[in-house]
Amino acid sequence: LDRQPFHGPHQAGIVTAQPAAALFVALDVLAEDRGELAKLFRILTDRFAFLTAGGPVPPLDPRLPPADSGILGPQVLPDNLTATLAVGASLFDDRYGLEGAKPRHLRPMDRFPNDSLDAKLCHGDLLLQFCANTAETNLHALRDVIRHTPGLVSLRWKLDGMLPPHVVNRPGQDTVRNFLGFKDGTANLDAGDEALMRRQVWVQPGGGEPGSGEPAWAAGGSYQVVRVIRNFVERWDRTPLREQERIFGRHKDSGAPLGQTDEHALPDYASDPAGARTPMDAHIRLANPRTPESAASLILRRGYNYSAGITPSGQLDMGLLFCCFQADLDAGFVAVQNRLNGEPLEEYIKPVGGGYFYALPGVSAPGGFLGQGLL
Ligand code: HEM
Repeated sequence: LDRQPFHGPHQAGIVTAQPAAALFVALDVLAEDRGELAKLFRILTDRFAFLTAGGPVPPLDPRLPPADSGILGPQVLPDNLTATLAVGASLFDDRYGLEGAKPRHLRPMDRFPNDSLDAKLCHGDLLLQFCANTAETNLHALRDVIRHTPGLVSLRWKLDGMLPPHVVNRPGQDTVRNFLGFKDGTANLDAGDEALMRRQVWVQPGGGEPGSGEPAWAAGGSYQVVRVIRNFVERWDRTPLREQERIFGRHKDSGAPLGQTDEHALPDYASDPAGARTPMDAHIRLANPRTPESAASLILRRGYNYSAGITPSGQLDMGLLFCCFQADLDAGFVAVQNRLNGEPLEEYIKPVGGGYFYALPGVSAPGGFLGQGLL
């Protein structure tokens, strides 16, 4: 029940339901050449397959360091783990001769007007996304990967994410609260709608305009955007409820669009052209104006809340580990973020890190490895 299959045309961890704990880790690759890079991808594939299936850890030889960190005991349980591998633009520099194979939208993350990016929290050759029922399972997976890849990778940044306990049987449709106290995910895409996922999330064979499409190896993958967005929660907690609700365009208790009572009711912007009910600059109205043109920018959000330490100025360092997937980076995340630039919510949020990545196509059957088509 709590085992997510590793093999398939797409990687797990994208349209699969979100369990309560996540761990995002960006790595830089130290492999000397393309052969070593392939070795790294094979190791990652083997470890992901084992960790997501679970099983006994190899017997201990007292003369050697234990084969497993042991933090889950002698039997690794799947615990709903998904491990997802994505590549960053920097992997396609001249180190491995992959310049010609780069997904066509992949580049270092753009800088948006409200960003205050901390270089120590940005980019990476690789992004590993672990999601599981418990934080320990994710940490066990990370330590397993690190101990199996000596000399091949170095850690760049890492952040844990969490979600409140919730029902996980509606992938992409879970509505749990973020750290500003609002339901998040209400109008997200239905990840169980395969036709919709094919259109908006999965890069198709020969995707893109004729002649300038995606490289053949990329089919079945997806652009993954991660944004570490700090929330100024102390300031937010001193903001009147009515203002909070106008900033998002939704009621705080029910999650319903302003003026309505059902969380899943559709906001009707056509009958509110001047923004009397839902302000024109409300987060949900800018993010998705629901016009024929804006249908192209639908994205699959899969974020987590995060809570780190305390900032140098003594405020809580917490916020949203925003994550989304789309078949076209520019038509998706970039178009949505450009519409959001200048929104009133910016007074309470500060993007400080993240990156643009490409989640690799899945491994269809045992024997294959992640990134095989690329290498
Ligand atoms: C909707 C919160 C950042 C895209 C929402 C909703 C909330 C929310 C409460 C309404 C419920 C829902 O449909 O999920 C936040 C917070 C953010 C943030 C607290 C930052 C800390 C972003 C970013 C993007 C984004 C960076 C993309 C660039 C969307 C979209 C919707 C949405 C597409 C659905 C709109 C609709 O279809 O009606 N967000 N969001 N959000 N947000 Fe955000």
